[in-house]
Amino acid sequence: MKITIIGTGYVGLVTGACLAELGNDVFCLDVDQRKIDILNNGGIPIHEPGLEEIVARNRAAGRIQFSTDIEASVKHGDVQFIAVGTPPDEDGSADLQYVVAAAKNIGKYMTNFKVVVDKSTVPVGTADRVSAAISAELGARSVTAEFSVVSNPEFLKEGAAVEDFMRPDRIVIGCDQTPQGEKARSQMKKLYAPFNRNHERTYWMDVRSAEFTKYAANAMLATRISFMNELANLADHVGADIEAVRHGIGSDPRIGHSFLYAGCGYGGSCFPKDVQALERTAQDYGLNLLILQAVEAVNARQKQVLGDKMQQRFGENLSGRHFAIWGLAFKPNTDDMRAASSRVLLGELLRAGATVAVYDPVSMQEAKRVLELDFYDAPELLASIRYAANPMDALVDADALAIVTEWKAFRSPDFDEVKARLKQPVVFDGRNLFEPTVMTELGIEYHGIGRSVLTNK
Ligand code: NAD
Ligand code: UDX
Repeated sequence: MKITIIGTGYVGLVTGACLAELGNDVFCLDVDQRKIDILNNGGIPIHEPGLEEIVARNRAAGRIQFSTDIEASVKHGDVQFIAVGTPPDEDGSADLQYVVAAAKNIGKYMTNFKVVVDKSTVPVGTADRVSAAISAELGARSVTAEFSVVSNPEFLKEGAAVEDFMRPDRIVIGCDQTPQGEKARSQMKKLYAPFNRNHERTYWMDVRSAEFTKYAANAMLATRISFMNELANLADHVGADIEAVRHGIGSDPRIGHSFLYAGCGYGGSCFPKDVQALERTAQDYGLNLLILQAVEAVNARQKQVLGDKMQQRFGENLSGRHFAIWGLAFKPNTDDMRAASSRVLLGELLRAGATVAVYDPVSMQEAKRVLELDFYDAPELLASIRYAANPMDALVDADALAIVTEWKAFRSPDFDEVKARLKQPVVFDGRNLFEPTVMTELGIEYHGIGRSVLTNK
């Protein structure tokens, strides 16, 4: 099938590459010339395991092309995927300007039937806005061409995006019940047929329910994390181990084991903004989603938990103190720094007067870019950050190590070397990578999340 992907970011590039891998003829459009140049020069603009190989293979086979040519992109695809960003507006609602711009471009150049797929995460009712934008452009050109807007939210996780896309738990597709909607449904069915071969994974529904499902899923997952973080903080007080509690409750199939890890808060491009956007949608209808307000507040507080523990240990004024930080990306296997907990920790430590040495296996360059923006008005703080060459280099002369991202490379370090390099053997573990009792036996002062019962014995 002939497919156009509008927006060649995390979701767009993964969607385009994976659909090409399945034999489709894919045109990836972006307005960012830099991204398109990188792709046309054989690279990829993001770090995502397995993606570069798929892109290279399909480029070589002529199944995927990258361009900034809007008119050509509209002409190319019978199915037009909108996969542009929907960042938070100042009031927390989803900013739909890129989605509407993409829709207008479709309306400006289309001449035959198009299935327009909202792949971006968009608030309930957006498909109607996309339809209206396309119709207005068609009207301005006095052209009659049919189309149908479909909602097909994406559930991939960064760091496992290719695997998630290729082996989805479910495919959610919302179509309307008009003749055009039926035509769109049959094209979507054909496109996704390879994913449904062994068993049917597609959930067909109306457009609004599909749009809602995406927010409901992310809000549910964010709620589980904030709930566990709140329990972890209580566990520290009452003398319980949150990891034991996690196993104890996760074994109940009604609860399940996933997304119950307490830590130093959730980040990324999705949970923070989607929780906020769902709250805003509710407010538009005069409702307050109290649970989601709490989820957000707990997460904001949780991002400070490592810094707070470090200040409790070393004092509020950290002048003269030097710390090592392992992990900057919001989660492992990505270089994405959006809403990363490391940024909050760095702000806390630097503002309290400390200096830091940081290390991340892949996001050093992206971290530099983002931190320069975070501290643009405080060059003296920026100057207090040293970018280390490797994890052990970061530890030299540090008063303590703080772990923010659970990269595999941090899971089994040479603890003798860790102790030898640190000024004093103190570890603040924001992702509960290590066993507190083992750390105590190794002579390391260990501060986990919700595990102090095991270190205070
Ligand atoms: P991104 O910022 O990585 O990519 C968006 C791309 O769209 C950018 O390259 C931008 O230049 C391009 N763009 C903007 N306007 C355009 C236009 N008019 N025409 C062509 N290109 C245009 O964003 P992302 O992380 O891929 O997210 C895209 C959407 O998917 C968002 O709604 C997000 O919530 C959702 N989503 C993201 C993830 C994720 O893990 N990143 C997962 C599921 C859903
Ligand atoms: C999320 C959703 O999982 C995915 O389905 C959706 O399409 C996009 O948003 P992503 O943001 O890539 O994916 O990462 P995810 O693995 O969900 O982690 C999000 C954040 O939650 C990370 O900061 C992670 O460290 C944190 N997290 C996750 C926890 O703190 N505890 C957990 O148990 C799980």
